[in-house]
Amino acid sequence: LSILIINGPNLNLLGKREPDIYGEDTFDDFMIHLKGKFIDADVTLEYYQSNHEGELLDKLHEVGFDYDGIILNAGAYTHTSIALADAISAIKTPVVEVHISNVHKREAFRHHSYISSVAEGIIIGFGLKGYELAVEYFI
Ligand code: DQA
Repeated sequence: LSILIINGPNLNLLGKREPDIYGEDTFDDFMIHLKGKFIDADVTLEYYQSNHEGELLDKLHEVGFDYDGIILNAGAYTHTSIALADAISAIKTPVVEVHISNVHKREAFRHHSYISSVAEGIIIGFGLKGYELAVEYFI
């Protein structure tokens, strides 16, 4: 199985960014943990991050007809981007939407997601563990 994790804007700052909300682990450290966890599974895990909406679209187009699964945390673009939703509809690879924090406990503008209605499923509020659960789903 080939799985790509895509993180959107500001998620390069994990570990430094509002650690009370997003935790103290960097995503690079988490990827080491994740790869170790699934070392015996027949799965290739890759990670891509961008702060640019167009680059996130390009990446979805690039992998979205070949990979078996995409795990997407679109950050704040979740709440704004019809273009990302259209890209997910356009591609073949199923997308699991992940959010580290429980967005429904937070500001009202985080309660709506353009991604949810085109995602295969949604994992929200379980911290970085959510990415692990998404990998398990694809396996
Ligand atoms: C987030 C939630 C979004 O509302 C926010 O803009 C983020 C991170 C999360 O993982 O909890 O950047 O997607």
